[in-house]
Amino acid sequence: MTTTRPGRVGLVGCGEVARYGHLPAIVAEPGLELVAVCDVSPEQLAQVSVPDGVARVRTLEEMPDIDALVVTSPAGVHAENVAWAAERGVPVLCEKPLAVDEATSLAMVDRMEAAGVALWVGFTYRFSPVARRIHELVAAGAVGQVRALRMVFLWDLHGVFADREARTGVNGRRVGRMLEGGPLVDCGVHQIDLARWWLDADLAVDHATGVWFDDLDGVDAPEHITAHLSGGGAQVMVEISVAYGHRAPAVPKTFTYEVIGTDGVIRYRRDDRDFLLVDRAGTHDLGWAHEKSFGGMYAELAKALRGEDHQLPSGRDGVAATRAALAATAQAVVGRRRPPLVNEQGPASV
Ligand SMILES: NC(=O)c1ccc[n+]([C@@H]2O[C@H](COP(=O)([O-])OP(=O)(O)OC[C@H]3O[C@@H](n4cnc5c(N)ncnc54)[C@H](O)[C@@H]3O)[C@@H](O)[C@H]2O)c1
Repeated sequence: MTTTRPGRVGLVGCGEVARYGHLPAIVAEPGLELVAVCDVSPEQLAQVSVPDGVARVRTLEEMPDIDALVVTSPAGVHAENVAWAAERGVPVLCEKPLAVDEATSLAMVDRMEAAGVALWVGFTYRFSPVARRIHELVAAGAVGQVRALRMVFLWDLHGVFADREARTGVNGRRVGRMLEGGPLVDCGVHQIDLARWWLDADLAVDHATGVWFDDLDGVDAPEHITAHLSGGGAQVMVEISVAYGHRAPAVPKTFTYEVIGTDGVIRYRRDDRDFLLVDRAGTHDLGWAHEKSFGGMYAELAKALRGEDHQLPSGRDGVAATRAALAATAQAVVGRRRPPLVNEQGPASV
């Protein structure tokens, strides 16, 4: 059944990504109405910028009637937020990763399926014109048969936050991202999800290696990881770093996709504003765009709430990407090589 009134949305978790990504996009989408924001922290709740009339609540119990819940709390809290929605029959758009372990993410999907309500995952990259164009081109065979995908995102959670750390005594950005499973689980799930979508295939982990810069209590993940996966006739290499330049404060990020086929290549280099298809006929400029689109995602949520066809990734997509990211991270941990300390190197050869 379709409806024409805007879908009433509540959001839980008023942190970084809610403020720069979700809330502006929900407010800008004519098919949605933001009715409430929720956060356990009164400071976070007070700082968030939302239109007059939007309720600010400290617990989900105080949420007014909504047609969908957007979950942008930390990954460790997603399951309890989703359980609240399942009990009330409210569909959820949940940030990635669904959870920091596979059993919890599967239980979330099962719970929502048993309640008969939708669970979608906020894989924002899928809605960028870049990711959509690559999906169309691969499906149309524009580069022939895809044989390899290279997906690289190198950025830093150290030097850029040094001032904040010196001021507050803690680098909350780094700790938060690492507690969500490290660079592949927190961030590379996007790349793994795109690879699954573009190749229309599930991916198996072949091999993964990691680099440790500093240890962090309670975290068993490298800060720079290279994972090799395969599926759909292609090899997929995903390399993610959150220590690119480490303590140097201003190393430019590297964000690339390369789709390497039997008849050509699609190449996206975000920071060079370069998006090309090179095939047997020559080089074609595909028109650069940003790699994420919160606006595109919320246009799809509006369609879903109107009962129309939409392209939101499912909870099962979220489980599959998280599973691969966790498995690759675990392989990197098992294969950890620690450079020998000076007193472990043995006698010098003569
Ligand atoms: N899609 C993307 O591009 C993208 C980018 C960044 C982060 N994320 C994901 O979004 C989520 C949030 O990340 P962030 O960087 O905004 O984190 P954050 O720590 O900045 O914000 C989380 C917010 O949730 C609140 N919160 C914690 N527990 C809560 C609870 N029980 N009930 C209500 N509110 C609670 C905190 O007070 C905080 O305001 C994570 O899952 C992260 O992986 C996605």
